[in-house]
Amino acid sequence: MNSRIQQILDKAVDKNSLSKEEIIAVLLCESSHNDVLFRAADLVRKRHVGDAVHLRGIIEFSNYCRRHCSYCGLRCANKDLQRYRMTPDAIYQAALDAAALGYRTIVLQSGEDLFFDADTVAALVRRLKKLGVAVTLSLGERTYEEYRLWRKAGADRYLLKHETADPVLYQKLHPDANQAGRLDCLSWLRELGYQVGSGCMVGLPGQTAEMLAADLLLLKELDVEMAGIGPFIPHPSTPLAEAAAGTAEMTLRMVALARLLLPLAHLPATTALATIDGYGRTKALSCGANVVMLNVTPLEYRSMYEIYPNKNRADSTPAAARRQFEELLAGLGRPVAEDVGHSPKSKFQRTVS
Ligand code: 5AD
Repeated sequence: MNSRIQQILDKAVDKNSLSKEEIIAVLLCESSHNDVLFRAADLVRKRHVGDAVHLRGIIEFSNYCRRHCSYCGLRCANKDLQRYRMTPDAIYQAALDAAALGYRTIVLQSGEDLFFDADTVAALVRRLKKLGVAVTLSLGERTYEEYRLWRKAGADRYLLKHETADPVLYQKLHPDANQAGRLDCLSWLRELGYQVGSGCMVGLPGQTAEMLAADLLLLKELDVEMAGIGPFIPHPSTPLAEAAAGTAEMTLRMVALARLLLPLAHLPATTALATIDGYGRTKALSCGANVVMLNVTPLEYRSMYEIYPNKNRADSTPAAARRQFEELLAGLGRPVAEDVGHSPKSKFQRTVS
C-alpha cells in the first residue's frame, strides 16, 4: 500500500477536508487503491448518514429546452427529438401514484421550458405539497423572483448542477450561458432557504484531474445538501457525439471523495452511472452514495427524455422498478429510508417541515 494515499485517506476520514493536491493524488492513484478509498467512503457514509437509502421519485415532465448545452440531447437545436410536455394534471397524477408507492420525495425535472411559467409551477408545487411529500425542483436557471415564489409555495429543495467548476470548460460547453450566472442562481437558492443540490459530470472532453478536484472543492464551498455526480455520456445528436464517455471508475472515485469531503450530503447513485455500468448503482451505494432517484414518469414519455443515449429503459413501471430496487437494497443490507429524507444538517431539520 502506497503510504501517501493511505495518509491522505486517514486525514480525509478524520477531518473531512483535503487540499487540491491531495484530491488530485487520489484521483490519479493506481486502481489497486480503489478498495481502501471506497471502504473509507463507505465508513464515513455509515457513520454520518447511516445505512438507510432515500428513494426519490422523479417526474421528467417536459423535454423542451431553450438551452444549447453541447453535451445534452435535450438541447434546443436537436431536431431529431420529439418534444413533449405533460399537463399539470398528468404531473399531479404521476406524483399521486408515486406517493402511493411509498415515495416521500417527488422531484420535478424538465428542460429549461418557460412554457411552465412561475405561477403554473407554484400552483403545481402547492398541489403536490398537499400529498405530504417533500418537493424538489430541477428546472434550470430561472429568476430570483421565480425561485422565491416556488419556495413560498412550499418547494423544499432545488437541484442545479454546476456541471464543471472550470470556467473555460464551462464556457465551451455552454455557449449561451455563463458560469457566473449559474453560481448566482445557486447563491439565490441558498439565500431562499432551499436545500441545495448541485454536482458535475465526470469525463467531459478536456476535463483534467485538477478540474475534477475543483469540482469537489466547489461542492464543499457551496456546502451543498446534495451532490449528483455522474459520467458524461456522448449523445449522437450533439456536437460532442464523437467524444469519449467518462468512466465508471473515475465517477466512483469522485463519489467516494465527495462523501469524504461532505459527510452529511445526500449523494445519489446516479442513473448515468447505472447506464454505463450495470452494477453502477450498487457500486456507488458501496462507496458513499445514500440516495437513488427512480423514474416515475409515465412510460409513454420515457424514451423522449433522452439527455444521453439509453437513459431510460421504458420497460419497467414505477411499481415494478421500485419493487426491484427494494429487493436489490435488501440484498445489500440497506433499508429504505422511511422519513421524508431532508438534509441531516440541523438547520433543515429545524426550519423545513
Ligand atoms: N451525459 C451525462 N450527463 C448529462 N447531463 C446532461 N447531458 C448529459 C450527458 N450527455 C446531466 C447534466 C444535467 C443533468 C440533468 O443531466 O449534469 O444537469
